[in-house]
Amino acid sequence: MHTIIEPFKIKSVEPVYFTTSQQRENILRKAFYNPFLIQAKDVMIDLLTDSGTSAMSSEQWGGIMRGDESYAGSESFFRFEAAVRNITGMPYIIPTHQGRAAEKIIFSITGGKGKYIVSNTLFDTTRANIEFSGAEGIDLLCAEGKLPSVPAPFKGNIDVDALEQFITTKGARHIPLVIITITNNSGGGQPVSMENIRAAKRVCNKYHIPLFIDACRFAENCYFIKTREPGYANKSILEIAQELFSCADGCTMSAKKDALANIGGFLAMHDEALAMQCRNMLIITEGFPTYGGLAGRDLEAIAIGLNEVMEEPYLKYRIRSIEYIGEKLDAAGVPYIKPTGGHAVYLDAKAFLPHTSPDQYPGQALCGALYTAGGIRGVEIGSVMFGKYGKDGNLIPAGMELVRLAIPRRVYTQSHIDYTTEVIIDVFKQRENITGYKIIYETPYLRHFTARFEPA
Ligand code: F0G
Repeated sequence: MHTIIEPFKIKSVEPVYFTTSQQRENILRKAFYNPFLIQAKDVMIDLLTDSGTSAMSSEQWGGIMRGDESYAGSESFFRFEAAVRNITGMPYIIPTHQGRAAEKIIFSITGGKGKYIVSNTLFDTTRANIEFSGAEGIDLLCAEGKLPSVPAPFKGNIDVDALEQFITTKGARHIPLVIITITNNSGGGQPVSMENIRAAKRVCNKYHIPLFIDACRFAENCYFIKTREPGYANKSILEIAQELFSCADGCTMSAKKDALANIGGFLAMHDEALAMQCRNMLIITEGFPTYGGLAGRDLEAIAIGLNEVMEEPYLKYRIRSIEYIGEKLDAAGVPYIKPTGGHAVYLDAKAFLPHTSPDQYPGQALCGALYTAGGIRGVEIGSVMFGKYGKDGNLIPAGMELVRLAIPRRVYTQSHIDYTTEVIIDVFKQRENITGYKIIYETPYLRHFTARFEPA
């Protein structure tokens, strides 16, 4: 078999600026050892996120020129609405400026004190919006999802028995909705099977609880269903997506991921009364219902991107290029979550740096080492992001200490990827020399964005 090539040609390029490891050591110190505080020009391979970092196609740039900037009833809105409706089958479609704006709207209406929002795993902004409403976010991930080194096809599945037990224990009236994140970003970008979504829906139906999908990476999830779940090999990605969304009562989406756009999001649902409440909130916080915090040109780029993302040559290249990193890491014995996910590789920092304790934030320390060694920027998904403090003031660590290397869509070539794996392997060979960090400044919500560190 021949090499799978990038299914695109490059028309416009951006420079990558090269730095030495000595320069990067200084930059990292000045950024208080937090990758979020490093200037992008000082990063050589930016794997901080796959969100909003996609390269748009010439079709999307063409759409940008076509964008209708009318305040009300813009043509671009109707093209956007048609694209979302074709995939989700949902009648009420509400544009927002990004995913968390959709979360803010839905959870400020359905959440509140004494309520529980149950998920496979909530992303951090989703959890923050739930908690900000006064409700509590509950993660009920399947058992295999919690074992980083053990491969399984659908490690993003929700534990359906635990879901039913949780509902009967707390009472359905305290659970305004269940939301399943596809793919499961905080748990390794792992997919959820169609069977699992159907099973969760049956439980939700039994207790009259709506099921929502956090659909940020729906196309990647559908590609995994096509290639891993019996019965889907001959279905198109659109058909699989339509079947998947037909199991849901609503969805939130960040168009910065699987809509190949640089900004945008939406909320979609079947319930008219709930949609009216959401629209009223939208008008206060985001904008008129036919633009919702976006320019007409953004809606146009999203409408086109939603269709491009479902093209199979693209998804095949996308998923394969991430698998390829995994194979190179395997050959060198580097620990990561197995199998590789849809949008990222998640290094297992606990296994990578066994000599650092959770309160020395091994994931953060590994991010620092990757940056210094090769100008690679990743993000910690561990006790910096999810750690809490107990009543005694001691850290309650996260379940896993990970470093996510998220691959922007259609941005890097195979040699960028080869370079990245070479740097990771070099760092792995010198792992004994990496020291942990301590926090010297932090905020109460989403502390990982702004926290400052120094070597412990
Ligand atoms: N849900 C999931 C699963 C996400 O991964 C994100 C964002 C959001 C919701 C929020 O969307 O950023 O448009 O407001 N994830 C980005 C990331 C930030 O890096 O994984 P947003």
